[in-house]
Amino acid sequence: MKQFHNILTWVLVLFLLVGCNQKPKIGFLMDSLAIERWKKDKELFEQKVEELGGVAYVEIADSDPEKQILQAQKLIDEGVEVLVVVPVDSKEAGDIVRLAHRNYVPVISYDRLIKDCNLDYYISTDNINIGELQANYLSKISPEGKYALISGPESDNNAYLLHIGWMNVLQPLIDKGDIEIVLDEFSEYWLPDESYAIMSEYLENNSEIDAIICGNDALALGTISALKEHGKEGKVLLAGQDAEIQAVRNIVAGNQTITIYKPIESLAYTAANAAIKIADGEAPSNMNITVNNGKRLVPAILLQASVVNRQNIKMTVISEGFLGEQDIFN
Ligand code: GAL
Repeated sequence: MKQFHNILTWVLVLFLLVGCNQKPKIGFLMDSLAIERWKKDKELFEQKVEELGGVAYVEIADSDPEKQILQAQKLIDEGVEVLVVVPVDSKEAGDIVRLAHRNYVPVISYDRLIKDCNLDYYISTDNINIGELQANYLSKISPEGKYALISGPESDNNAYLLHIGWMNVLQPLIDKGDIEIVLDEFSEYWLPDESYAIMSEYLENNSEIDAIICGNDALALGTISALKEHGKEGKVLLAGQDAEIQAVRNIVAGNQTITIYKPIESLAYTAANAAIKIADGEAPSNMNITVNNGKRLVPAILLQASVVNRQNIKMTVISEGFLGEQDIFN
């Protein structure tokens, strides 16, 4: 009998040890990997979660909001303790938050805000400021002229925030009659084919364009192809975002004026840190502001982005190790 008790005690101790040593499971629901930057977000996030002793469960929705909800269910079934979400659709992703909460899983919105729900946390960059940085840079060079605006999808809150930033800067110049917005369109997937089609159509009927502001570098790339076909590459001011390798090469070649460098490493690391803390039952650090998502004031961290132009490539993306010098200049 005593021996039986001993065995029972050992089984209990073993059970407790295994239980305590279980690694925190962190879910990362991503939109798509079609655009270069998201591969970096994914890699850095996985690496940090692992370094902090957790396991990252990653799912990619391929731009399908319904698929993303199913993937949320899948990860909840697999036992994730926190969900970090790059929403495909800022509003539809509210269903992910409701689903997660029914299962006592908190949600961190990553880069893009999830709207109109009881979202727990939001970690991103100041996207209105990014729009202002882009519009400021181009309008300082060309305070008069014809401007085209090409945004991301309306379903992405960032596209909308960037547009607010653009208009904060441009509206006074439009009111003065100095700047005319000749094109103001949203794309569906942030992709080059879309901006190529938009810009080509414009250039087939109009020859005048002084500046183009794009929501990201992929959109900027598509407009460069359209400009090339009309002999205008390098002759029009052009802003993008994400500091993609091709965009930085285009800046060196003179076909793009600026891009925006987002601190993706900090973004991914901050989110991984917060997720692990929450999984450990602690409050995440540095949530020092709140952002209204239409339903509540969500505790948030907003990181700062910066302009990359021809002169500061070495001091920004290269010195921070974001891009390799060889890759840009060879
Ligand atoms: C946005 C993000 C941009 C860009 C875009 C395309 O939400 O703010 O930096 O990456 O998605 O994926």
